[in-house]
Amino acid sequence: FESGLLAGKRVVITAGPTREALDPVRYISNHSSGKMGYALAAAAVAAGARTTLISGPVTLPVPDHVAFHPVESARDMLAACLDQVAECDIFIACAAVADYRPAQVQGQKIKKGAEEISLPLVRNPDIVATIAAVEKPPFTVGFAAETQDVLAYARDKMQRKHLDMIVANDVSEQGIGFNSEENAVTILHESGQRTLARATKFNIAREILEEIARVYREN
Ligand code: C5P
Repeated sequence: FESGLLAGKRVVITAGPTREALDPVRYISNHSSGKMGYALAAAAVAAGARTTLISGPVTLPVPDHVAFHPVESARDMLAACLDQVAECDIFIACAAVADYRPAQVQGQKIKKGAEEISLPLVRNPDIVATIAAVEKPPFTVGFAAETQDVLAYARDKMQRKHLDMIVANDVSEQGIGFNSEENAVTILHESGQRTLARATKFNIAREILEEIARVYREN
């Protein structure tokens, strides 16, 4: 992996889950560990990129030499991404963004009482699709975690969100993807695909960045 692979390029990465508040003490979230996104940030630094990491709440150490922007909700994450987009060459959306948020955040803690209550939810903005739709979009890379017809769904997602590349993984396989140390992925772009065999997330991250650099240069 040549160290100057992405020299001088500005890379922005989203990582981790988002947290969607219900009231001052409760939230909806998911089990994303942030490991893949943090591995990508460390690998981007190693490749010589000026690297920004926009992350939901996780317990990982922030890699050295990364500009770090912690956020909570999907809307916070979108605002942080839009702040960075003008200065961004390559945008990698690795975050597990909550698809929905509570329609209202209660100002006070919700009291227990009724046997049954319901919680109206509204759609969150799609961050990577929003970034891909700005006037001068960066080279935009998304992730697709699927349990069936992985490549077909991933390619469809890439086209629908107008991404330059998508990294597909089969989350129904044991020991890879969500919350694990290893991953195995297929990288898809308009004119090709490449499968990476099971490896640590840092090694997968390095190979993803190599592929990004190659396709980015050809663009
Ligand atoms: O549509 P789906 O959630 O499967 O798409 C996954 C890809 O889209 C990932 O790259 C994820 O980071 C991104 N995404 C996003 N904002 C959302 C939902 C997903 O950036 N609200």
